[in-house]
Formats: sequence, structure tokens, C-alpha cells
Amino acid sequence: MAFRLKSKSDYQEAYKASIENPENFWEEIASHYTWQKPWTKVFESDFEKPDVKWFLNAKLNITENCLDRHLKERGDKIALIWEPNNPKDAVKKYTYKQLHAEVCKFANVLKARGIKKGDRVCLYMPMIPELSFAVLACARIGAIHSVVFAGFSASSLADRINDASANTVITSDAMNRGAKKMDVKGIIDEALTKCTTVEHVIVVNHLNEKTNMQSGRDVWYHEAVAKVNENCPAESMDSEDMLFILYTSGSTGKPKGVVHTCGGYMVYAGYSFTNVFQCDENDIYWCTADIGWITGHTYIIYGPLLAGATTMMFEGIPTWPDAGRFWDVVDKHQVNIFYTAPTAIRSLMAKGLEFVEPYKLSSLKVLGTVGEPINVEAWEWYNEYIGKKNCPIVDTWWQTETGGIMITALAGISDLKASYAGQPMPGVQLALLDADGKEIEGDDVEGYLCIKHAWPSMIRTTYGDHERCKNVYFSNYNGYYFTGDGARREKDNMYRIIGRVDDVINVSGHRFGTAEIENAINEHDEVVESAVVGYPHDIKGQGIYAFVICNKEHSNDVETRKEILATVSEYIGKIAKPDKIQFVSGLPKTRSGKIMRRILRKVAEGDVSNLGDTTTLLDPSIVDELKEGVV
Ligand code: PRX
Repeated sequence: MAFRLKSKSDYQEAYKASIENPENFWEEIASHYTWQKPWTKVFESDFEKPDVKWFLNAKLNITENCLDRHLKERGDKIALIWEPNNPKDAVKKYTYKQLHAEVCKFANVLKARGIKKGDRVCLYMPMIPELSFAVLACARIGAIHSVVFAGFSASSLADRINDASANTVITSDAMNRGAKKMDVKGIIDEALTKCTTVEHVIVVNHLNEKTNMQSGRDVWYHEAVAKVNENCPAESMDSEDMLFILYTSGSTGKPKGVVHTCGGYMVYAGYSFTNVFQCDENDIYWCTADIGWITGHTYIIYGPLLAGATTMMFEGIPTWPDAGRFWDVVDKHQVNIFYTAPTAIRSLMAKGLEFVEPYKLSSLKVLGTVGEPINVEAWEWYNEYIGKKNCPIVDTWWQTETGGIMITALAGISDLKASYAGQPMPGVQLALLDADGKEIEGDDVEGYLCIKHAWPSMIRTTYGDHERCKNVYFSNYNGYYFTGDGARREKDNMYRIIGRVDDVINVSGHRFGTAEIENAINEHDEVVESAVVGYPHDIKGQGIYAFVICNKEHSNDVETRKEILATVSEYIGKIAKPDKIQFVSGLPKTRSGKIMRRILRKVAEGDVSNLGDTTTLLDPSIVDELKEGVV
């Protein structure tokens, strides 16, 4: 079987082979890479514990496969293009040789501070080349990176640093966001007042901002890097050693640290990138995600570099200097493969075609989307005005926990259907389950989306709390990994993702647990209790609707509303601010005290004509109040 699938029959054969004999299938895929020592067994899998291992006892370093492996054949090829926030500023480009040198230097800066294999390093940075260097530098020396999206607040950052007991933070002085300049180091300083484990803070001077440096702890990257050389041997990692932690929200508790390991993640990241995007040697590939999310990890850094591709990272935002920025960048760099989120498509669509028309977009060959369901209207706009009806759209379904794309079309190979993610990747064994945990067979059926066989890049644990991993993903249905999504299956194994079936809200492709937002709202002095639900939002996919009960002293709705938004910004970050707040005197609770979220969702959707059975409510009169107060 070839590593790269090129036709429908290749897909079918590979899919069949992957189910009939997963060992052989994955062994062939894995042998595409450079291993310091081969595996003794392809996988071991127990979904009960859970305990999953891939490529047992093999040794490798992912950066040798991302960088060193390419030096002979494509050392002078551009590996990384950096497009700055301001289109007038200089673009930066790094060949594979140069990127290799930058990563080795960054790794030596870490080593010079005593940072070593197994240490946790938190990265809180804007989208600048040093972020990619730092991620790969950690992997080079075997330190475990935990990238935190630079939109999270100091409080969220502190939680993540503490959960991982990170001893090092890598950051920058400040960051650009369109026309705005934002503080970064100040947020680090604030977060670190709540952290005791951090000994080293490495600060990249990005914008020459006046920056407070704490002596003994903080060091400028440009000063440290001047003292090291560009040779750094790659640490030998066991296939099951941790590669990174990435925090994500679930339906309960605080965000959890999803753990990925070296060997399996590498194999799946490279395999899925090559096959989904069908990236050719001279293609320019651009994924617009932030490296603070899994999409940036797998499909800006690791996947493309494993494939020896040219990957671009973009510092800016889609709407600055105007809503044509994405298309300007596509033309400027002659981008061939473009991967973005439905929310970005919808927001640019709303700005009008005058921002698209000035651009040729003739270099584009493949379009992709990720993060949330794409509605038919947005799919068609993307297809017609961006792809000029000439580019396959791969609608890729996956999760932080899956490490790589699981359901998708293969560009130019698979049949496409708007709003359908498509078929499982070869190697991915899906199942739809009913509420009793029975597998639903056949076509034209809907159920809870589960995965019934281990795949190499699956979550291994939630950092420091294995029970939680078991409870969240492996306990709902025995023997299955539960995704938290509902899905529909049609003929030819075509899947359509319906959305989350748990208390997770997907806002512009960002995941939040309702409990997480409620906890933040409840921090406000006047708030007694709150309940948060998602509601359909034209641009964001889902918006956040909060029902809030305040105490007696509550006097001014307008002020309290503002303060609640500020509280959520403080505890989580601006990205989690509720879109709507309705003040209420009570919540619809059953006699056993459980909030009937079904009713709240209907109210938030503005669909109050039929709220279903409300007779089990402790106080049914609350429903009329809710209906009358809809925001
Ligand atoms: O609900 C699904 C939705 O995003 C969730 C995963 O979120 P996260 O871990 O943040 O990863 C996002 C990027 C991989 C899923 O459970 N989701 C992701 N991609 C799609 C999607 N929903 C529909 N269609 C997609 N293509």
C-alpha cells in the first residue's frame, strides 16, 4: 500500500485493509518515518482502563522527522513562511536548513537553563516564528510543551501552568491584533503571582515594548540565543513518551490537559496531512488557525513539516486592514491549499463580495474547513467565490483528543456533499450508538458518534488525572471512545456531524464547557446562580446565552451586565464572554434540583411556543417569566 492514496479505489482498499489488519496497515504507514529503534509491537489497546500504546518500545524524535530527514533532499526549500500582522511589514521565510538551525538554537537556550526531557514548558505567545521554533525546540529536547492560546486571561493561564507544574514559560513582550497592540508579558507576570513552579521565563522581543524583567527568572531570548550554537542532537524519545499537553474544555470542571505521545501522534499527523490535503512538493499550504489550538499543532507545525511541505503562519486577523486580508495573502504568496474555520468564512461572507472581487485566487487548488459544522450557505459561498467551483472542499471533523483528522474527504479524490464531513480516514473505525449503548447499523441513521478501535494519535490521558480521561471518554459506552458529538450516517459511510450532545458550546470553533462559564459568572459578587446554554448564532455558529440570578442588592442591570462580562474576561478570557444575559428570579429546576436545560435552550433560541412538558418543575411559573424576559 502506498503512503499517499491517489484514487477512490486506493481509499477503499486502504480502508478495508485498515479494518482487516490494523497491525499491518499501521506498520506500513509508520515505516515511512525515521525511527532510531524499531517497535516491538504495533499497538496494545484496552479501552476499559484506558491504556493504549502505539509502536511499543520504538525510539524516535519527531523533529528529526520534521527537519533533519528533509535536509538532504530539500534543505533549501522554504519550510516556513511568516506573514506579519501588518501587510506593509516584511515577510519572513525559513528554509528547512534555517528552520533546523533556529530550532536547535532555541533548544540550546532551553538546555542552557537546565530544562530537560520530561519538564513541562508553557508557551503563551502571539503567532510569530519563534512560537514554532519553541514548540519544536521542546520536542527536540524532550520537554513537554503546553501551548496556551494568547487570548486566555492570566487566571486561565495560571490554572494551566499549575495543572502541568510547568517550570518554564516562553512568551513575548507584546502582540499585535489588527490595529491593536496588546500586552503579553504583563499577563504572564500577573499569572505567575499565582504559580510557584515556574523558574524560567524566556521573553521574545517582538515589538520593542517596555517590559518588566524579573531578575533571576526572566531572560530575553535574543540575548540568550546569542550565546548558543546551532547544533543540538535530538533527544531519544520512547514512542509513548509525552510530546505535548493541550488544554481543552469539557462538560464538567476545569479545562483538562489532553496528552499526546511522540510516536503515534507523529505517524497520524503526517499520514493525515498528506492524504487529506494531497499536498504536492511545490505547494504553498496555509492553515489560518492559531497554534494555541490543536489545529495549529497538527496542521501548521507537525503535519506539514513531516511531509516536507511549505507551511505558512499568519500573525494577523482576517478583517484587518480590511475584510480582504485573507485573499490578499493568498494572492501574495500564491497559496495552493487553504484551511480555515466556518466562522471565518461566515464573517467574511457577511462583509460582502467587494472584499473578494479584487483578488484572483487563481493559485488555490484545495480548500478546507474545521472546528464546527459548516452550513450549506457558507459552504456554497466558499466553493463559488473562493474556490471558483474549481477546488475540492475538505470539511474535516476531528478533536483535540483525536490528534488528527478523523472524518473528511480526501481532496480531489472523494465525493463531496455540502455540510457532510465525509468518510472516515482509513484506520478510523466509527460507530453510531443509541442511548442504550447499542450500535446502530445501516444507512440514514443518527446516533452518538463513537470510535471503536484505537488509532495512533488518540488521547492517552488527561494530565495528572487518568480517572477523568476514563470517565469523560471511555465510560459512557463500554469499549468505545465517546466523542461528545452526535452524527448522521448515510450511504457509502458518509457522515454529517450534528453537533455536541454534551454541555459543551462551540463558539467560533472554540470549545467551552457551560459549567466553566457559569463558574466564572458566579464569581461576580451580586450573582447567586447562573445557567449557560448555547444558541444558534449567524457568524459564531453558537452564541453564549446566560440566565443569571442576582442577590437583593442588585440594582442596575446595565452596570451588572458589564461587570459580569468583565468577570468572565478575567476568569477565562474575552473569547468566552456571553453574547446575551437575561436576569431572572429563578431557574427551571426539577424537584430534585436539576436545571432543565432543554427549556433554557428553547428560550435562548427564541422558540418559546412549545416548551414541552414542564409539569415536573418545582415552580412551573418560572417559565412564563423566562419567556417574557427573552433577550
Ligand atoms: O463538535 C465537534 C467540533 O469541534 C469539536 C472539537 O473541538 P476541538 O477539540 O476544539 O477541536 C477543533 C479542531 C479540530 C468536535 O467535537 N468540530 C470539529 N470539526 C468539525 C466539528 N463539527 C462539525 N464539523 C467539523 N468539521
